[in-house]
Amino acid sequence: MSLQLEIDRRRTFAIISHPDAGKTTLTEKLLLFGGAIREAGAVKSNKIRKGATSDFMEIERQRGISVATSVMGFEYNEVKINILDTPGHKDFAEDTYRTLTAVDSVIVVIDVAKGVEEQTEKLVAVCRMRKIPIIVFINKLDREGLDAFELLDEIEQKLGIKVHPLSWPIGMGKTLQGVYNLFERKLFFFADTDKYRAEKPIEITGFDEETFIPFIGERAAKALLADYELVHGVYPEFSVESYQAAEVSPVFFGSALNNFGVKELLDCFIQIAPKPQPKQAEERLVRPEEEAFSGFVFKIHANMDPNHRDRIAFVKVVSGMFERNTNYMHTGTGKTFKFSSPTAFMASKKSVIDEAFAGDIVGLHDTGNFKIGDTISSGEKIHFRGLPSFSPEFFRYIENGDPMKSKQLAKGVDQLMDEGVAQLFTKNSNGRKIIGTVGPLQFDVIEYRLKHEYNATARYEQLPVYKACWVTGSDADMKDLKHKKQAYMAVDKHGRDVFIADSQYALQMAQSNYPKVDFRFTSEL
Ligand code: G4P
Repeated sequence: MSLQLEIDRRRTFAIISHPDAGKTTLTEKLLLFGGAIREAGAVKSNKIRKGATSDFMEIERQRGISVATSVMGFEYNEVKINILDTPGHKDFAEDTYRTLTAVDSVIVVIDVAKGVEEQTEKLVAVCRMRKIPIIVFINKLDREGLDAFELLDEIEQKLGIKVHPLSWPIGMGKTLQGVYNLFERKLFFFADTDKYRAEKPIEITGFDEETFIPFIGERAAKALLADYELVHGVYPEFSVESYQAAEVSPVFFGSALNNFGVKELLDCFIQIAPKPQPKQAEERLVRPEEEAFSGFVFKIHANMDPNHRDRIAFVKVVSGMFERNTNYMHTGTGKTFKFSSPTAFMASKKSVIDEAFAGDIVGLHDTGNFKIGDTISSGEKIHFRGLPSFSPEFFRYIENGDPMKSKQLAKGVDQLMDEGVAQLFTKNSNGRKIIGTVGPLQFDVIEYRLKHEYNATARYEQLPVYKACWVTGSDADMKDLKHKKQAYMAVDKHGRDVFIADSQYALQMAQSNYPKVDFRFTSEL
């Protein structure tokens, strides 16, 4: 198959949701259709179970699952599908944000009873920022939930996206009869008895009460037609182009647990979801079909095996073909590497591959040369940008708890930061190290992993911080800011200047005293 054909048949996406909406269940059903797994229960939920075991064990369990399910690839109707897993817990949201830089589209799962939840809002905001096309799957239709129109309104308002329903529920909860697919004009009946049967839809040619009544009864037929009219009145015509341009999001209704509405979601997905997209490098726009290989590291997984200090760098192939045992350049350092056992991920199985194409994810064994955001190429000096760092919300000083192990601590902290577990800042005034995280759980993760993987002891000390933001400005302004606000200044791991405000007042004062300095709450590597 030609390079172009291989690339054109790839679809790389992530499923995102608030915990418990049904991401794991939907993933599993998609894998069942793809024949990648044989039975339900094979995909493990990567959410942090509360109360089941101690948090540390839970973190390890979660990490174990997360490497196995980081990428789930399978073939379906000649299409190569790559699902990228995202952590469920909000304290690991940064991991999810980075994963979103490696996908070409997303499916958002929403619980019909709960509507739009907090985590969904945050994740979709990132998708909007990056113009990632979104398909919405409204799940748990077998339960009583919100009215469909109400829900669509809520989605539009809270998520700031425009929607277009491609299927419509007939009843809900106890009265659920099925959905009518407005796209294919097919009626899908709901049956919760045979959980893994493929649905046999009924094609409906006419569109009036008489046609529907024999199938769903008079009341439901009347309601469906009334809803249908309203749908047509309210939502403009659906076009694949507007979806791919991230201007409108098609919506499906179903029940992942009952395998209802999943196949039609998948069938539509492979028809409309975007193939691998071009990516902007600092130097130029890189197109997937270019012959020369290029890719970037969006995730690093370290020390899964305590006996081997190895890490896996997850690389999204942006252009061309990646080949085993071929020399590639780390464009940041100029060093050349050859990978003898690059891995691909088919469901929970890892296997060594000889080649991968734009759109795919390859896992590369790394001995500490790569960090998140690095670019690898066939030789061209390009640098992909756009891996976001978010201003952390929790801060602590980190100190060495065992004077004999200061080297181990430094190495451990350095590597965990490369992995993107948290962000490290060094204060200008006294050189003290500050760890900043997006959730409090990360401090436990760091302490535990430093102990178990590096044999180092970390001690934390609280410090009052309101916000940390990246600051840039003219040389004169920055010099003045660093001089007058020395106590607030620090640098991040990449040497960028950071203002660490202990209160909202301190931040406002600095912003008004230095109107020409740019204070940013996200930064892109
Ligand atoms: P997540 O990955 O988004 O966190 O959600 P997950 O798939 O783990 O689903 C969360 C809970 O919702 C699970 O129940 C799951 O069985 C249930 N669920 C998923 N889809 C549907 C659906 O279509 N209908 C109904 N009624 N429930 C659904 P649980 O009791 O928390 O877990 P489990 O013990 O069933 O695994």
